Amino acid sequence: MSEIFGYYAPTKVVFGKGAELQVAELIREQGCKKVLLHYGSQSAKRTGLLDRIEKCLTDGGIDYVELGGVVPNPRLCKVYEGIELCKKEGVDFILAVGGGSTIDSAKAIAYGLANEGDVWDLYRHVKQATACLPLASVLTIAAAGSETSNGSVITNEKTGEKRAYDSDLSRPKFAIMDPELTMTLPDYQTKSGCTDILMHTMERWFSGAPCMEITDRVAAAVLQDVMKYARILKDDPKNYEARAEIMWSGSISHNGLTGFGNDGGDWTTHNLEHELGGMFDVAHGAGLAAVWGSWARYVMKAGLDRFVKFATFVMGVEAGNTEEETALRGIEAMEDFFRSIDMPTNLKELGVSPTEEQLRIMAKGCAEAGGGQQGSLKVLYEEDLYNIYVMADKER
Ligand code: NZQ
Ligand code: ZN
Repeated sequence: MSEIFGYYAPTKVVFGKGAELQVAELIREQGCKKVLLHYGSQSAKRTGLLDRIEKCLTDGGIDYVELGGVVPNPRLCKVYEGIELCKKEGVDFILAVGGGSTIDSAKAIAYGLANEGDVWDLYRHVKQATACLPLASVLTIAAAGSETSNGSVITNEKTGEKRAYDSDLSRPKFAIMDPELTMTLPDYQTKSGCTDILMHTMERWFSGAPCMEITDRVAAAVLQDVMKYARILKDDPKNYEARAEIMWSGSISHNGLTGFGNDGGDWTTHNLEHELGGMFDVAHGAGLAAVWGSWARYVMKAGLDRFVKFATFVMGVEAGNTEEETALRGIEAMEDFFRSIDMPTNLKELGVSPTEEQLRIMAKGCAEAGGGQQGSLKVLYEEDLYNIYVMADKER
């Protein structure tokens, strides 16, 4: 294991049916003067959630302004709009009502308000944040884990770059999680969310550093739980227990717990997806499923022990005649699971057909996003990343 490591998950979680009705009290505890109520395109309005939150804030005497219209793969232009509005209105706290995209947009606005200069410089990794306005969320989709994570991912619509910035400064103050709110999700978003949750633990599992046994056991439990309840939701999307299991898994999968003691993991699959998201605007989880198997086959030999343990301990497959055979069985078992919940395992199934030039552009962007390389289990360069995109472009 790494020599010195930490765990910082300061977000207060309020979980259960009707939890959103506590929003005014939770905000009051923060001692703020004016709130930005930030939300997505349609769902929060359509489901009546926004009305309920507005009523809670008004009844609780909390002053607020609104900014909706955040789209999946949230755009930098909306972040700039939010920063301007908050400056004009004297906002000192942001409440995101929505999923990862809305929470990430809120985090970027919060950085923009607390740091001098262009907020995009953080996502370009040419500057570090020194502060962040406090924020919180009412979560409406179990997926990104942004409700308790230190991450945010923004897309620059002018350049097509989708880039992440991580800092503990942006860990939300509280997260309201009512599993019932996720029942209005389209099935595709539920499944894509489950895939993202799996990947947050898998990216940590396939670490280049030694891992702790307790962390492996927690990780295996999260992965097996999500697979079990994702299958249940496929046939019974209104199942509250399944929604609750998935929602909590989404948070613990990405708050640092399932990577405790290792080097933080190997996030190449996420970075491969970010290029797809920036160029083709695909759903994040589906994009991850479409490239993971190709990445896994490409790097498998560099981390054979982790792939073998994944196959037998997590996926429960029988050992093959060689370690490589066992590892491959584990990869195939996860791909079978993706297919069982209608997730893609290649780019064609994802619905994108990149040209040769686009494959090259994505490989270049992905390498650049990591300062010229990606990965810790196996370090990959632009040509490797291109090879993985080419593998993912072929049907399996
Ligand atoms: O905009 P609305 O109308 O709300 O529609 C959304 C959106 O179309 C809809 N939706 C959300 N809750 C709903 C609902 N529809 C009906 N009923 C509900 N209750 O679902 C769609 C997807 O929403 P989005 O917020 O984009 O989903 P998700 O949570 O998957 O977030 C994806 C974004 O998070 C980033 C991804 O890259 C992507 O940009 N990530 C953020 C991370 C982080 N901050 O730590 C880590 C992740 O790895 C991820 O990269
Ligand atoms: Zn993710």
